[in-house]
Amino acid sequence: MWASLLSLVALTPAANALLRFPCSQLVTQRFDPLVTPGIVSPHVHQIIGGMESQADLPGLSTCTTCKFKEDASNYWTAVLYFKHQNGSYIRVPQMANQFVGSPNGGMTVYYIQPSNNQKVTSFPKGFRMIVGDPMLRNKTNINPNSAAGKAISFRCWNANFGSDANYPHPGTGPLDTIELPNKACAGGIRSNIFFPSCWNGKDLDPADHASHMAYPTGDVPRDGLLFMGGGCPASHPIRVPSLFLEIAWDTRQFNNMWPASGQPFVLSQGDPTGIGQHADYVFGWKDDSLQRAMDKCTDMGGQPSSCRELTQVSDADMNKCTQQVRVDEVTEGRYLNALPGCNPVQNGPNPATMINECNALSTYIGQPAAPTQSTTVVTTSTSTAVTTTTTVVTQPTQPAGPLIPKYGQCGGNGWTGSTQCVAGSTCQKLNDWYSQCT
Ligand SMILES: *[C@@H]1O[C@H](CO)[C@@H](O)[C@H](O)[C@H]1NC(C)=O
Ligand SMILES: *[C@@H]1O[C@H](CO)[C@@H](O)[C@H](O)[C@H]1NC(C)=O
Repeated sequence: MWASLLSLVALTPAANALLRFPCSQLVTQRFDPLVTPGIVSPHVHQIIGGMESQADLPGLSTCTTCKFKEDASNYWTAVLYFKHQNGSYIRVPQMANQFVGSPNGGMTVYYIQPSNNQKVTSFPKGFRMIVGDPMLRNKTNINPNSAAGKAISFRCWNANFGSDANYPHPGTGPLDTIELPNKACAGGIRSNIFFPSCWNGKDLDPADHASHMAYPTGDVPRDGLLFMGGGCPASHPIRVPSLFLEIAWDTRQFNNMWPASGQPFVLSQGDPTGIGQHADYVFGWKDDSLQRAMDKCTDMGGQPSSCRELTQVSDADMNKCTQQVRVDEVTEGRYLNALPGCNPVQNGPNPATMINECNALSTYIGQPAAPTQSTTVVTTSTSTAVTTTTTVVTQPTQPAGPLIPKYGQCGGNGWTGSTQCVAGSTCQKLNDWYSQCT
């Protein structure tokens, strides 16, 4: 198996040193430690990596879902749902990517070095970033040949991870699209997300979580961003590793359930186009371990065992590291009446808007499931000392009169509803368009 990946990479003239490793799911829920820390976030994410997802102190992490013990970073992206013709939604299950062992869902993470032996600098402690825009619904302003245009895409797999022999690499060729694939994919769908790799050298995490980063300049080569050398713009001169994520969705069971109206998948923020796919990163490598790995682990295939600088975690231990769901809401495992949170499907082409007047928490864990029996979604960690740092968000009280329940919307541009929260909860502004009772 490895041999085929290695040969693909070796055949390419400008080969890049890289690390490639799996991280299992830590938790899937409406949480976003970066944009809305400590409170319920507008839409569902799958988070992977270090247990202590609100701190960027690897020392505090009791375990990690990543292959390397030193990596207590957190990475998260939107989750994919299937919309049934009857209007119900169910989370699309994940499958193990190629050549990664047996992680439980999660992602494949790459740290890629430039192709011209240019040295990379590790992200500094406290570094965070976001790529992509969850509200985006059209690609008018995306130049398909630019790095930004190649950064976020979907691979429509032929059977058995089949790709196009002429364009095997992510974000290249006819099987990769910026939108969700418009045909049933025999082997499932992979989400491909490249973060920018040029840093301004100053900000760890600006207010927009993005402007401190830029893509390398120049044309993207035929084989895509994976093989991009390119210089960094003067405004963002520090070349950091090119961080790349892959998420493998097992859409196969839905292939015979497509409605006549078109593709039935929708990202958790109510995005049926896929153009709003996005990802977040909170750096959390222990000490100088990432810099050491970049300096010394220069395998072109990125195989974890070839990086002796780092300590491997077994698949079993990665999969054991799970965080208890903190938001008392069902997000997966059965059909739901609506996407969790305030996320009706918005097709675009206008940017999506936050929705007023909706019940943010609609499907409580523990609520009798109808019509089928609920499958449990609370994952309880089997490792010790892990749940002690976890705050479980209790089920909100139902509203009385005009009082907004905890986690409900209580303000924002255009909001005409009540701004009063139930007792024990206060209205907090998250952005110009959305305030939430927390
Ligand atoms: C839609 O179909 C699914 C699968 O059969 C079922 O579980 C779900 O309850 C249905 N939803 C509605 C609203 O009928
Ligand atoms: C496309 O999206 C951009 C960015 O969100 C927006 O400014 C523009 O109005 C949209 N175009 C159309 C045709 O809606």
